[in-house]
Amino acid sequence: MIIASAPAKVILVGEHFVVENEPAIALAVELRARTIVEPIQKYERIYSSKNYGCCIKISDGKVSTKGNAEVLSPIVKIGEIVEGIAGLRKGYKLTVESEIPPASGMGSSAAVAVATATALGKLYEIPLTHEEISNIAYEAERIVHDTPSGIDNTISTYGGVIVFRKSEGFIRLDVDLSPIRVIIADSGLPRSTGAMVKKVRKLKNKYPKVLDPLYHTAGRLVIEVAKALEDGDFKRVGELMNINHGLLSAVGVSNLKLEELVHVARRSGALGAKITGAGGGGSIVALAYADDVQKIAESLQRVSERVFVLEVAREGARIEYHCAANNMDTF
Ligand code: MEV
Repeated sequence: MIIASAPAKVILVGEHFVVENEPAIALAVELRARTIVEPIQKYERIYSSKNYGCCIKISDGKVSTKGNAEVLSPIVKIGEIVEGIAGLRKGYKLTVESEIPPASGMGSSAAVAVATATALGKLYEIPLTHEEISNIAYEAERIVHDTPSGIDNTISTYGGVIVFRKSEGFIRLDVDLSPIRVIIADSGLPRSTGAMVKKVRKLKNKYPKVLDPLYHTAGRLVIEVAKALEDGDFKRVGELMNINHGLLSAVGVSNLKLEELVHVARRSGALGAKITGAGGGGSIVALAYADDVQKIAESLQRVSERVFVLEVAREGARIEYHCAANNMDTF
């Protein structure tokens, strides 16, 4: 049996603008998706999701499903890609389970895809690099999100804190975030990242002269946040997050519930608060000094379905457990 895991992500600044090649900063956080793979003798692949209670079985060229098995198509795609790279056939039962709420802006689909590519690489005994795992997960993300920037699969694979730019890849920020806490509050309103990205692109195409400078501002803001993080100036980071929230409202991805969450967080002492991820629903992220967290989390709990106080996950994709037939091998 093999168990692999990958962390959730929080975009600190730059979502949406990152799709048009502006930079963005993302953190990996300690909520994980896990993929469990059990080899079977027959050449048969059985994929299931614990969270969705669905299953898809591919055996002798026949496909049978249970429940809303469509949500498993990115995982099946990863199965095909890894089998193609390995150039051999193996039968397995693969189960995914996730602590990350789906459609909440925390990269649940990317984390599941990254954990799956990692687990299958181990099953086929092919030494996939982090870059290959991230690229395979990106192919799966394309099924769910249309034209993703690639930031979600990248941060979930590598962990830590990164500055990402679509055309250039990423650099790791070696910053000390120990004085602060990341608070996530879920609006409880589901939404589709692909649909939100399309909506923003439509607005940009309609008003290019108005929105091009705003995109440029968003990119500039990300550079300022990276400097403030390196200086350990979290007050400045918070102020810039608030400006970033204004830019996201301007491109139409906020709503009354998200505004409420953002303002409750700020009023109760957050250094800054903004939408995180695609918006239109999903979550907000607030940054706070450790001493202020309890008050902010309690205020948010009154208006949010789910509140998390999270630590940065230094490690990205990893093998949690591996037990070969005659060889117990735990990590
Ligand atoms: C993804 O979590 C957030 C967006 O920027 C889309 C993307 O980067 O692919 C909205």
